Amino acid sequence: MYRIESKIDVNSAEFKNNREEFLKVLNEYKKNLEKVRVRDEENPVIRHKKRGKLLARERIDLLIDPNTPFMELSPLAAFDAYDNQFPSAGIITGVGVIHGKEALIIANDATVKGGTYVAETIKKHVRAQQVAIENQLPCVYMVDSGGIFLPEQSKVFADRFNFGRFFYNQARLSAMGVPQIAIVMGSCTAGGAYVPAMSDETIIVKKQGTIFIGGPPLVKAATGEVVTPEELGGADVHTSISGVADHYAENDQHAIQICRNIFQTLEAREKQQLELSPVEDPFYDPEELYGLAPIDFRKPVDSREIIARMVDGSRFHEFKARYAPTLITGFANIMGYPVGIVANNGVLFSESSSKGAHFVELCQVRKIPLLFLQNITGFIVGKQYEHGGIAKDGAKFVHAVANADVPKFTVVFGGSFGAGNYAMAGRAYDPRLLFMWPNARISVMGGEQASGVLIQVKEEQLAKAGKTLDPKDREKLRKEILHKYDVEGSPYFSTSRLWDDGIIDPVDTRKIIAMGIAMSLNKKFPDMKNGVFRM
Ligand code: COA
Repeated sequence: MYRIESKIDVNSAEFKNNREEFLKVLNEYKKNLEKVRVRDEENPVIRHKKRGKLLARERIDLLIDPNTPFMELSPLAAFDAYDNQFPSAGIITGVGVIHGKEALIIANDATVKGGTYVAETIKKHVRAQQVAIENQLPCVYMVDSGGIFLPEQSKVFADRFNFGRFFYNQARLSAMGVPQIAIVMGSCTAGGAYVPAMSDETIIVKKQGTIFIGGPPLVKAATGEVVTPEELGGADVHTSISGVADHYAENDQHAIQICRNIFQTLEAREKQQLELSPVEDPFYDPEELYGLAPIDFRKPVDSREIIARMVDGSRFHEFKARYAPTLITGFANIMGYPVGIVANNGVLFSESSSKGAHFVELCQVRKIPLLFLQNITGFIVGKQYEHGGIAKDGAKFVHAVANADVPKFTVVFGGSFGAGNYAMAGRAYDPRLLFMWPNARISVMGGEQASGVLIQVKEEQLAKAGKTLDPKDREKLRKEILHKYDVEGSPYFSTSRLWDDGIIDPVDTRKIIAMGIAMSLNKKFPDMKNGVFRM
């Protein structure tokens, strides 16, 4: 593979300005992360610690192997919602290594409204289980939750991907041979009782963990029986009388140790084999991504420059380098893992779509994971292109991506607009993981374009009634639409709603993608299977 020759002058004013602007955006992102992660001064956190309990992230740190990273998913879920009363949506999820095995960890944060579930908490829990299903990762549930946040019950209880889905997923995962382990470190009330009860193996902490279908207040209301939580469903009851739990732990630390011991007994999985290369740093410094990450979307950035700062040795074996230059395709290695990269370099034309579909097929046949780097305004529009069949060529690309069952990873490093989002493995195309850079934007189209379309529709409506749009009203409408798109296109709007798996610092991209590929090897890659391509 040849080394990409960077044409960027890192001393130019343009590069330095971009870097300066980007660092402001990065700083805001880091502050937002800190807000949800560092809450030591808050009363529920102080009370939680006084009870001798570890915080959710501390529990995870102890559970995973020393000096190994935890890939946290969607830490900014529910950001700017509910008056920010649900930091990280009250649940921590992610992938870590336990006794050398990749595992999916779900930990309730009892310092957030008693660890109860609002819509985003549910979405995050179900999304984490989806990651476990797709990558066949054993699951650890660190339970400390009051169940459904009752005022929001209509949004979290009854639908297909609501609370009940947790237990359905546990049963399905267990049937797939994917171990399900619960550590009861606090409350497991009502539906929540099924998390430990549906697990293959369950640990419960003395005088801390409780499991019951109906808590003491409900029991009193229903039957008049007066009972303490400990008598009703504490660790002693469940390990010696009911048999709902299997292991009795003295405290959080002990429970975590028991869980690690359980991992030693799990069957080793037969992994997908990839041809690995020695790990090598990129030749160009990944920190230079700060000067390249698109801030002003009107200025094009050659995505080869982005790739050069992400892949081993900055080496890239480009495919069809001379053809359809608005889509860059080629092979590289990321921390030794082979990867096929599809990156936007402008609007998608018919040729770029065919090239993309062809390259995706190559990766499917060769069983090489795919990395999509999105910076896309959409497919080309206009009479010439419609006549040339852009719809059917675009469809080929979308078709290939939808059916590509090799692990796909998507990083939005600029804009993600229109159907380009679909072709480039947007959320609806089941990439194993999807991340956004803090400068990224995502919406059906840009604000300017949307205001242009909507104003034109309005003018046509008025013209039919023999009226015209007053220039003042036109400007007011334009500003309103721009503002709405500005708010809704933000990566925080996206990540709060779990349209992605999180916002990441560009320099971490290669580490995160490598972890994603490592976890994906727990499931053998299937053979290529495609449907009918419209020719
Ligand atoms: N719905 C809505 N709010 C709830 C809640 C629920 N199910 N469970 C707890 N909360 C709220 C509390 O009102 C309190 O809110 P505040 O901070 O605004 O005052 C906050 O969460 C913390 O609760 P608190 O009881 O003070 O904390 P705790 O650590 O002592 O106890 C629980 C936590 C979960 C054990 C306890 O609150 C409880 O038993 N909740 C009810 C659980 C239940 O019956 N769930 C059934 C739903 S399926």
